[in-house]
Amino acid sequence: MPTYIVLLGPPGAGKGTQAKVLAEKLGLPHISSGDIFRENIKNNTELGKKAQVYIHDGELVPDDLTIEMIRDRFSRPDCVNGAILDGFPRTPAQADALCKMLKGFGGKVNMVPFISAPDNVLIERLAGRWTCRAAGHVFHGIFNPPQTPGKCDIDGSELYQRDDDKAETVTHRIQVYLTQTTPLIDYYKNRGVLVEINGFAPIEQVSMQLLSALK
Ligand code: AP5
Repeated sequence: MPTYIVLLGPPGAGKGTQAKVLAEKLGLPHISSGDIFRENIKNNTELGKKAQVYIHDGELVPDDLTIEMIRDRFSRPDCVNGAILDGFPRTPAQADALCKMLKGFGGKVNMVPFISAPDNVLIERLAGRWTCRAAGHVFHGIFNPPQTPGKCDIDGSELYQRDDDKAETVTHRIQVYLTQTTPLIDYYKNRGVLVEINGFAPIEQVSMQLLSALK
């Protein structure tokens, strides 16, 4: 049976950081909707041009564009055994669409770790986040510093600060999360797959909570 895990939580909770740990541990692809949008923006595709304005303002990209993008990603053969989803779904309409897509593989959402942390911690994490240009590997100036400042430990590429990590945009992203994404907590709780994870702990301890929830 394929294994599909959806990481849920506010901006800066550590979804991307933990998705990489789970993907490696389980040998499954890490599908980050934010990374796919940023790749499209970098390559100046039609999707990138449409998504850019929403991402810059800290708004969600409309459901139809987002669902189509994920459907396209799921058409690749590496998803048939499962995937770690990071940042998708973010609305009930996206969650319903995901459910239908996975049925096509004979699969379903098996587990939804809901990673939470206080707002002041989220803001501090995003203000200090450094992301690698080549593959989206994530570091933090204080909590997870790269060995060489400005360079990715994994592939040596340049580290940059995301345009939507500015303090005022982060505050708005948290608000958007509260109004548009938190309904998914009950959505998945009612389906018996939600697992609460304390994200206000060091990275390794959050990983340990996740791995023990998987057992
Ligand atoms: P996206 O890229 O998905 O951003 P996000 O959900 O806001 O999440 P982040 O990437 O900001 O945070 P994270 O939880 O992954 O934290 P991370 O591990 O990096 O989306 C960006 C935009 O794209 C959206 O605003 C929207 O416009 C659009 N979009 C994307 N998906 C969409 C969808 N489905 N529908 C519509 N629009 C969509 O960690 C953050 C920092 O903290 C790092 O520096 C890390 O090193 C550090 N850190 C992590 N864990 C810890 C820890 N435990 N202790 C200390 N530091 C830690």
